[in-house]
Order: sequence, then structure tokens, then C-alpha cells
Amino acid sequence: MPAAGGTCRPFLKWPGGKARQVPLIREALGAGERLIEPFTGSAALFLNSHYPRYLLADSNPDLITLYTVLQEQGMEFIRYARELFQPANNTPEAYYELRRQFNETTDRRRKAALFVYLNRHCYNGLCRYSRKSGFNVPFGRYRNPGFPERAMVAFLKRSGKARFLCGDYLETMDQARRGDVVYCDPPYVPLSETASFTSYAAGGFGWEDQRRLAEKAGELARRGVRVVISNHATPEIEALYGDARLVRHREHRSISRNVSSRGPVAELLAIFEPGTSR
Ligand SMILES: C[S@@+](CC[C@H](N)C(=O)[O-])C[C@H]1O[C@@H](n2cnc3c(N)ncnc32)[C@H](O)[C@@H]1O
Repeated sequence: MPAAGGTCRPFLKWPGGKARQVPLIREALGAGERLIEPFTGSAALFLNSHYPRYLLADSNPDLITLYTVLQEQGMEFIRYARELFQPANNTPEAYYELRRQFNETTDRRRKAALFVYLNRHCYNGLCRYSRKSGFNVPFGRYRNPGFPERAMVAFLKRSGKARFLCGDYLETMDQARRGDVVYCDPPYVPLSETASFTSYAAGGFGWEDQRRLAEKAGELARRGVRVVISNHATPEIEALYGDARLVRHREHRSISRNVSSRGPVAELLAIFEPGTSR
């Protein structure tokens, strides 16, 4: 079932993308009739695995609209999105005008194409919204933000096996049935020693969500569904995953603004085996 050979890159830049960890995650998940991802993001695992079917969900409606429009409209949509990638649109003035259009349009196809444009032209490929003005990441100043055509075509070719769903992780996980495998890549618990778990809620995902996710994973395992969760390997997180099997590994990530403290970070995969979780 794993993809043989090289990796297929996601067409979106996505903070926390898992392209490099795919072999480890595939091994932890094993075989299944359907792979469910409640936190799909750029879908690195979907692109580099071979399950008969996929349920790919995320709470970001713009992301799921993009995947759905690409699936429905195929090459026609890819050609349409490519038109936005021209030198005249790689200026701050054009960027802020297109960002305004993105926040105002109700046309799904336009919104989806603009999401690809913003992802490649905005600062660091970030995806951040303000309640008042919508998508609010500043211009990225890239010399040549290339259109990710090949990666979009690769995504499109595989998308026939997928169903896309916009929703909260608990709703998605409730759809799991015996024979499915579930991979969860939630927003991570912060590493900062001073961060308070109870007050932290970046992107709306706080400690209470981390707790509910671990609880739901245990519930699915008791129903015969294997669940794998990625997170930082801290004592608090390890305690949260109770009797799941933990696979620790180290990742090179620029997660700190302080350059001197950038370096390998301890991460883990918590594997909830069917039938073994309390
Ligand atoms: C770490 S990223 C996933 C990265 C992904 N594995 C990849 O390879 O790109 C976390 C994702 O969770 C989504 N998310 C945040 N809160 C959520 C929630 N309550 N329910 C479902 N998805 C959520 C975010 O939109 C984001 O795409």
C-alpha cells in the first residue's frame, strides 16, 4: 500500500506539512479500507499512500472548497488558476487587490483559484484570518512564485478516491468504521516552557481539544479502528496519550523565531491499536 520510491509534493505550502514524515506515518497506520484525515492540511499523506478510499477533512472551508473545485473541474480549473500567476500580479498593489477580492467574492471557482494565488504570494505561505477582514497575511515578496501545476495535476489524478469534508475533527472521527484507519495531525501543543496549556488556543485549538482528541482516539480504538496522532514529545503530551504505543522521533523544524534555538525537535506518533485502548 505505501507509495514506492519518491515523494509526491503537496501543491500548497502549509505550516506543519508532513511530507518528510510520511514513511514513518504509513508504517504506523498499516493497511486499511479507507484512510480518514480529520486535519488534512496540504494532504501530504494522501498524496503518498495507496488506500482504496479517503475521507479528507479540515475545519478550513477555503481549503476544502479548493480541493472540491479541483476535483469537480479538473484541468479546466488548473488552467483558470494559472492565469493569476503572472508578473503583473507579483506586486504589493496587485496582491492586496486580489486579497480583497478573495475576501469578498462568493464565486467558488474564483475563491479557490485566489486561494492558490495567495498561498504562493503571501508571506511564508501562512494562512491566517482576522474576524473583521478575513485572510490577512501580508505580501511575501518572492522573486518568482511558480505555479504548482505538476503538483496540482498529481493531486487531481488521485482525487477520484477521495471525499472532502469541511468540519470539526470530532464530527469527522465519528464517521470512522471498523476497517478504516485514522491519521490525526492537529495543531501542536506549543513547546514554549512558559506557555500555559489551559490558556493556549492558537487557531482555536486549545488543551481541551487535545484532550478530547486523545479521548476520541481511545474510543475509536475500542471500536476496532486504528488511530495515529502526531504531536510534540513532551511529558504532558505523553501522559495525555495514556496507553497508546508511542514512537518518538526527531524533526528539524524552524519552529522558533530565535535562530539560536532552532534545531531538532522531539516529536511522537501515538498509536491507538484496535481493541487495546482502555
Ligand atoms: C498541522 S496542520 C496539518 C498538516 C497536514 N498533515 C499536512 O501534511 O499539511 C493542522 C490542520 O488542522 C486544521 N484544524 C485546526 N483546527 C481544527 C479543528 N478543530 N477541526 C479540524 N481541523 C482543524 C487546520 O486548518 C490545519 O489544516
